[in-house]
Amino acid sequence: MASSLHTSFISNSPVRSNLQDSEYFKLRSFSIQLQNLPFKCLKKNLNENPIRMSIVTSAKNSSDVNEIDTTLSPRVNSVKPSKTVAITDQATALVQAGVPVIQLAAGEPDFDTPSVIAEAGINAIRQGYTRYTPNSGTLELREAICRKLSEENGISYTPDEILVSNGAKQSVHQALLAVCSPGDEVIIPGPFWVSYTEMATLTDAKPVILQTQLSNNFLLDPKVLESIINEKSRVLIICSPSNPTGSVYPKELLEEIAKIVAKYPRLLVLSDEIYEHIIYAPASHVSFASLPGMWERTFTVNGFSKAFAMTGWRLGYLAGPKHFVQACAKIQSQFTSGPSSISQKAGVAALGLGRAGGEAVAIMVKAFQERRDYLVKSFKEMEGVKISEPQGAFYLFLDFSYYYGSEVEGFGVIEDSDSLCRYLLDKGQVAVVPGAAFGDDSCIRISYAASMSTLQAAIENIKKALAQIKLGVPV
Ligand SMILES: Cc1ncc(COP(=O)(O)O)c(C=O)c1O
Repeated sequence: MASSLHTSFISNSPVRSNLQDSEYFKLRSFSIQLQNLPFKCLKKNLNENPIRMSIVTSAKNSSDVNEIDTTLSPRVNSVKPSKTVAITDQATALVQAGVPVIQLAAGEPDFDTPSVIAEAGINAIRQGYTRYTPNSGTLELREAICRKLSEENGISYTPDEILVSNGAKQSVHQALLAVCSPGDEVIIPGPFWVSYTEMATLTDAKPVILQTQLSNNFLLDPKVLESIINEKSRVLIICSPSNPTGSVYPKELLEEIAKIVAKYPRLLVLSDEIYEHIIYAPASHVSFASLPGMWERTFTVNGFSKAFAMTGWRLGYLAGPKHFVQACAKIQSQFTSGPSSISQKAGVAALGLGRAGGEAVAIMVKAFQERRDYLVKSFKEMEGVKISEPQGAFYLFLDFSYYYGSEVEGFGVIEDSDSLCRYLLDKGQVAVVPGAAFGDDSCIRISYAASMSTLQAAIENIKKALAQIKLGVPV
């Protein structure tokens, strides 16, 4: 049997560049000889005399050395990687290398998971609760979610209208996959959470950004919304409290939006309520599905990551009309199946903490509020920074465009949010995320999921870094 195995280990690999030409040609001719060996013999040879090389099977026959086709699908190529994850990873790598970077990029609470929740997870393991659960999540957890949604949000669901997933990220994506046809439009108010646009793209839908203004607290203007709705509009995403702006949609505004949505039978709403509990009075949270006529067309997405400091447990959920939720469940059944049995037990404990997470969550929210107040005051005092006071979540979305076009010695020109963030990392050793990642280049996002002393140090560093910018030096 002539071998169909080909070696592809040398020609353009890093190995090649480390070889003298004579060695390369020796290896190359060896690779050609290998191709002429019967497969069994080749296997035997390799087993007896292992050689560090990669061998691939290939359908191609044309040349002595075949390249692997590294082409990726157009779907992957159309998607941007998450900038928040990239910057967080970069900052973490710097910290690990000994650079004292202040990490204000990450979108996760700096608190540990409350101990009652953690214990429930530990007990689940101890009690052998470590097997697959039903695809949609355990009945115990889905019933607890139904109770929570009824008592706290005024929306009534049955367990078969709930789908528990590996994080709310999965819930959002599955909802879009379930209802969007190619070419459908997903309306996303900007600035937006980085994943919405990319998830829409991954589902072959078209993200349509409705830009909001800092001067209007980054809230959607219903008239602008209505002006862009057309027969292709399939999903409107509302995120309140918002990542990245911290804005909270007041009830009256949601009602206005609901009236518009009601006119368009094809339009559904995905209401991302994952920051629901991290909200600062007098602002209060309203679930979109609780508004008249909206239950039938709303996907309510929520999760445990933010309020319960459970980012690593990967647990989120979706509630909606059965027809849609079961479609999402079908996708999940071929994708990940149900989420971790251990996390689900922890989720039950989290929902057992009482209204809005009880005391354990209230302590964290109080700390977030103190930090928000401190940062809002500090940034208001800084030259050129424009700010809309966030009412929820743990982010500030600040307009720093005043500094764009200015030059800094030894760095160059600060052109945009990207270069400003690089500058703040270089000079101030503070990691924050460019607003461009969220669709607004005039701003940067600061996460205040960090201790007060860390925030104080960050403010000092940012002030010093900004002081070095020679304002008004033309590009
Ligand atoms: C607005 C928003 N929705 C959903 C998620 C997803 O959360 P998770 O997948 O951790 O539940 C995040 C996380 O950053 C978020 O900011």
